[in-house]
Amino acid sequence: MKRVLIAAMLFGGVVVSTAASADEFPPGEMHDVVATACTACHVGAQVTAQHKTSEQWAETVSQMISNGAQVKDSDFDKVVAYLTQNFGPVGQ
Ligand code: HEC
Repeated sequence: MKRVLIAAMLFGGVVVSTAASADEFPPGEMHDVVATACTACHVGAQVTAQHKTSEQWAETVSQMISNGAQVKDSDFDKVVAYLTQNFGPVGQ
């Protein structure tokens, strides 16, 4: 009985941690910042479904920061570069 309980707890833990770490954001220096800051209010797909130029991403990220997104000033350019690199305009 005890063993079953422990197995259930372990299994539960694995499921939870997989859900938390398996996200749609590709690896990169700004992965953790974006995966954390940009999923606080909406799902990551709200971000990953987009294709924007760097100017458009800069505008969106500024907009999200005024909404309340936690992005440091020093990370702003890197976040925009990360988003543009991974979710840039189609066909360019
Ligand atoms: C404080 C809440 C909040 C956070 C944090 C946040 N967003 Fe948003 N986001 C919103 C809301 C509300 C909308 C829908 C209304 C709108 O379009 O502004 C939205 C919509 C969007 C859209 C779709 C509309 C568009 O402009 O293309 C994108 C893309 C987006 N967010 C990207 C991001 C990114 C990137 C980050 C991380 C830097 C982020 N969001 C963090 C609140 C937030």
